[in-house]
Amino acid sequence: RIDLKVDSVLKLMTLDEKIGQLNQYTGDRDATGPITNSPNKLKEVRDGKLGSMLNVRGAKETRAVQEVAMQSRLKIPLLFGLDVVHGYRVTFPIPLAEAASWDLAEMENAARVAGRETAASGIHWTFAPMVDIGRDPRWGRVMEGAGEDTYLGSKIAYARVKGFQGKGLGNLDAVMACVKHFAAYGAAIAGRDYAAVDMSENALWEYYLPPFKAGLDAGAATFMNSFNTLNGVPATGNNYLQRDILKGKWGFDGFMVSDWGSIGEMVAHGFSKDKKQAAEQAIKAGSDMDMESRSYLPYLAQLVKENKVDIALIDDAVKRILRKKFELGLFDDPYRFSDVTRQEKEINSAANKQASLRMAEKSIVLLKNNKQTLPLTKSLKKIAVIGPLAKSEKDMQGFWSVSWQNDKLISLYEGLQNKVGKQTELLYAKGCEITDTSKTGFAEAIAIAKQADVVVMAVGEAYDMSGEAKSKANIHLPGIQEDLIRAIKATGKSVVVLIMAGRPLVFNYTADNADAILYTWWLGSEAGNAMANVLYGDYNPAGKLPMTFPRDEGQIPIYYNHLSTGRPAKNDQDTRYRSAYLDMQNSPKFAFGHGLSYTTFDYADLKLSTKELSQQAKINISFTLKNTGKFDGEEVVQLYLQDKFASITRPVKELKDFQKVMLKQGESKTINFVIDKEKLSFYNQKLEWAAEPGDFKLMIGTASDQIKLESEFVLKDE
Ligand code: IFM
Repeated sequence: RIDLKVDSVLKLMTLDEKIGQLNQYTGDRDATGPITNSPNKLKEVRDGKLGSMLNVRGAKETRAVQEVAMQSRLKIPLLFGLDVVHGYRVTFPIPLAEAASWDLAEMENAARVAGRETAASGIHWTFAPMVDIGRDPRWGRVMEGAGEDTYLGSKIAYARVKGFQGKGLGNLDAVMACVKHFAAYGAAIAGRDYAAVDMSENALWEYYLPPFKAGLDAGAATFMNSFNTLNGVPATGNNYLQRDILKGKWGFDGFMVSDWGSIGEMVAHGFSKDKKQAAEQAIKAGSDMDMESRSYLPYLAQLVKENKVDIALIDDAVKRILRKKFELGLFDDPYRFSDVTRQEKEINSAANKQASLRMAEKSIVLLKNNKQTLPLTKSLKKIAVIGPLAKSEKDMQGFWSVSWQNDKLISLYEGLQNKVGKQTELLYAKGCEITDTSKTGFAEAIAIAKQADVVVMAVGEAYDMSGEAKSKANIHLPGIQEDLIRAIKATGKSVVVLIMAGRPLVFNYTADNADAILYTWWLGSEAGNAMANVLYGDYNPAGKLPMTFPRDEGQIPIYYNHLSTGRPAKNDQDTRYRSAYLDMQNSPKFAFGHGLSYTTFDYADLKLSTKELSQQAKINISFTLKNTGKFDGEEVVQLYLQDKFASITRPVKELKDFQKVMLKQGESKTINFVIDKEKLSFYNQKLEWAAEPGDFKLMIGTASDQIKLESEFVLKDE
């Protein structure tokens, strides 16, 4: 039925009106890129020259602009889009932090809450989730994704799309998801944002495309292409990616928006002679909507008249966009999302903050806990709270909090105050700024450390040090923060370090010398309360790293599922004519999947229903997980496989399943997994997804480098 309605509107449209639907401008402000100023945007809306706007937010504001669209000849409603990356008004942990929870239901809920707040502000569309695999922490946008692993990333992509779109487009609390950036943007050479990507077809299909497919399987309404070239061809002008794979093989029937200016940027890439040719290449390649490059509006009509672009391509793009407008119910009521009363009720509510708090607690990773330094006990008399991020609120929001409106965020200090009340005295000294070079603040910090029972330090990155265009060649803990930690450690006090950042950082002194370390990332609105709950054991941390933490930038790219070599090093000391560095270990500082708990878990009694798997069968795997410590707690059990020999060499291990399990003190549970042919398949030399008979290694553990149970099995030839 919708298709008939779409066709009936299309029939009424002039060529210019059709092209107008493919055009998107930014609205009120320059949130994410250079504004190409249009002196008269509202006139263009009235003239039917726009299909969508980004960065217009608020029920009142969206209604006002929509009213102008209703003055256009055909009264086609506008779509309003915005980067709601980790929360709208209530900020959630950055996506990479959420990924550390490995808690799919909680992440879906976080996206649900963000979707509800967004929809209540008159917005129809979020430019999220970003599903780019990130294997290079120099790339600042790793903060927006789910980390380095394809299996985990795909599950998270699915959960997030479901969360944003809720019960489906047309419901008043659902927004369109936009799976981005199609494709391979995360593999920018040397981690430099917007740089070229050069990769094999196998790597593309095996590691980079699956999260996009997962987002599509979850029903994503839209996709965004990306700034990068892939093997020489800009993603925006890439037929293979957009037409052959996405709209062809995968049958995507939503629409593709370009990234900001990415159509025009094909000129700078040296792929298009000018913007006119860029418009031709982009529409032919399957980019349906032009975000802010102003290439479609001035040139597409001309290109059709010159017979360079087939009108059928324009019609197809317009139909894709109109279909979504119908599905959202905008043709029935263009203002249905712009309801001030609903906005007031939904936005920034206590329930939404609670959801953010839960997500924040689950995102924290306990990297180290010597001699059970944590959790802190309530009987402590004095705690010294030290560090440039201890009282910071702004940094807690993290990059891409475009709709955060200076609302109260909870700093670590405030969270601790809320927790300890009057029974423990909090002493405070900043010690240094994040990027300081002067140690003048150290003396005061040392003095309060000496008076305290324990020191809690808050160090890391400012909110704008990771994010778009925030690539860094040096990812050490910035400034002199490690010197401050060294100076405080020299007092002999027990030192707990909280690291707040948007990416994996290098902090070897701290890793080796702090008594306990919590990696808290940027946790959003309730950051301080979540950190205090974890510090005091009111929430037992269960986060696991979704990215490998290097010892040094020289190891990058470093990821756990690397391919083998003919000369593998047996360990970090085995360097002679081995695939190793002379001046650095191969192993990371903290491995993918690492994360401790206040309790301990025992893995035992691994059983496989068979060790000879025939092609159509399954292996049932079971083992016993026991909570052997003194706290109730959750464990993320991780199942890895290695295909020991194949027609294409396989990674040393690959995550193929996981479960997050809650166990009370002393409790045991039987954990079950199933392995079938699908889990053993990979893209072979002909790029076919297939499993090859042979030997497989099964590894179950608490981290990629902490395997607790191992076995082998064979996939038989039929
Ligand atoms: O959605 C973003 C994209 O990820 C990067 N460039 C700008 C877009 C819109 O703000």
